[in-house]
Amino acid sequence: MLYGNEALDELGILEGINEVIATTESEGRINAAPIGIIRSEDRLYVRLFLGTHTYENVLAKGWFVANITHDAWIFAETALEDLSPKYFTRKEDLPVLEDAEAWLLFECEAFASDIIIADLKPIKGEMIRKDFRAVNRGANLVIEAAVAATRYLALRTDSYFEELMKMQRIIDRCGGPRERLAMEQLMERVDSFSHMR
Ligand SMILES: Cc1cc2nc3c(=O)[nH]c(=O)nc-3n(C[C@H](O)[C@H](O)[C@H](O)COP(=O)(O)O)c2cc1C
Repeated sequence: MLYGNEALDELGILEGINEVIATTESEGRINAAPIGIIRSEDRLYVRLFLGTHTYENVLAKGWFVANITHDAWIFAETALEDLSPKYFTRKEDLPVLEDAEAWLLFECEAFASDIIIADLKPIKGEMIRKDFRAVNRGANLVIEAAVAATRYLALRTDSYFEELMKMQRIIDRCGGPRERLAMEQLMERVDSFSHMR
């Protein structure tokens, strides 16, 4: 087990924005969603937007678990959908993604407003397995596409949809089957949610 600031460096939460899957819990129900942990020289914090389960759970409980994963599919999936319980396990009684490469518990003091900007305190974490792989442009773009999809659905700005179409072509070319599946499902959801609202 790793504790405090040592856990940050050892588990790869470095300077810049660290995209992780936050797991939180409310009334026995585990939630997972991508968030960015911002680390600068002198600060470690998150920005959480009103209207998400993650916002509600962090506000109520004051903690989340950051799951570190290179699986682009899980970013695309959790950006727009809830995961079923089979995707989670428990470590030290905390909700963790079954396939996480590492996890790290953060405490934060959150105050209700349109956006929570909360300083984070790393508590404890653990490396489960090392996922060593070459850079894949398709995988990186699936994560970009998941961001664009959440923004498109929230704001309905056409430029986000155009970005998605452009990224889809590159993901088809550079990604493997998992990245292509992630993008296909993301676009299906964008399409069906666009008609619902
Ligand atoms: C890569 C990535 C990073 C994201 N970072 C944040 C973030 O830092 N803060 C935030 O409020 N939403 C962020 N989002 C959007 C949320 O993940 C999205 O609103 C999600 O639907 C919230 O799910 P929930 O309701 O289950 O919490 C991000 C999305 C992606 C794909």
